[in-house]
Amino acid sequence: MDAHGTAVAVGCDRYSGGVKQSAGGALIVFEGGDGAGKSTQAAALVAALRRDGRTVTLTREPGGTPLAESVRSLVLDPSHAPVSAVTEALLFASARADHVARRIRPALERGEVVICDRFVDSSVAYQGAGRGLGTERVLELNRWAVQGLVPELTVLLDVDQTTAEARRRERALATDRMESEARAFHDAVNAAFRELAAHAPSRYLVLDASAPAAELTDAIVDRVTGILAERTEVSA
Ligand code: TYD
Repeated sequence: MDAHGTAVAVGCDRYSGGVKQSAGGALIVFEGGDGAGKSTQAAALVAALRRDGRTVTLTREPGGTPLAESVRSLVLDPSHAPVSAVTEALLFASARADHVARRIRPALERGEVVICDRFVDSSVAYQGAGRGLGTERVLELNRWAVQGLVPELTVLLDVDQTTAEARRRERALATDRMESEARAFHDAVNAAFRELAAHAPSRYLVLDASAPAAELTDAIVDRVTGILAERTEVSA
């Protein structure tokens, strides 16, 4: 149980039992709390893979299609507060359903590497654990939304709250509805991310986000290029 009394143990057997992605393409996801440095690392991975001659689609959630970007502006807009946890979970899931159907799956079918900044785990962590809806229920909703798509690898940039808060202050950006949540909320979110990774270690790369950025990039590029090389051998 986390601080909110929410069970964070997650039925990853069912998650990993989902439909694998299409042959050729590979979905790589970045997850982590706000201020973990996901966008920087995602961009560095894209650059490295493109240097290797791979075709890469970089995308993000919520968003990635016109419809999902519209949902993004609704769901993160502070002027809509307070939004019920259920409404929030459904909005994120609906944006994700469109994103998977219209952008991610077509790119995977073309054999591309798709790199996505946040995916299902964000809903499980933020809405399931953070908002207390329950991780199982949110996972179930999202398995339906993505029609069973499971990432090849999820890179979890594990961030402690002090580093995350300092980074948010540095960026001095307008705060969205999630970022303005209390520390206990973010602690529950981070605990859920770790729990998800612990249940399926072969599908996760967990890194301490406070390490130097170049070191993180090396570890991520190594792991991803290893996975892609294996897949090429298998399909050859
Ligand atoms: P964003 O500005 O993209 O944050 P970050 O740079 O940290 O990714 O805002 C996305 C916010 O939405 C972030 O606080 C996490 C939250 N979120 C959810 O609560 N559930 C979800 O399913 C997703 C994808 C994001």
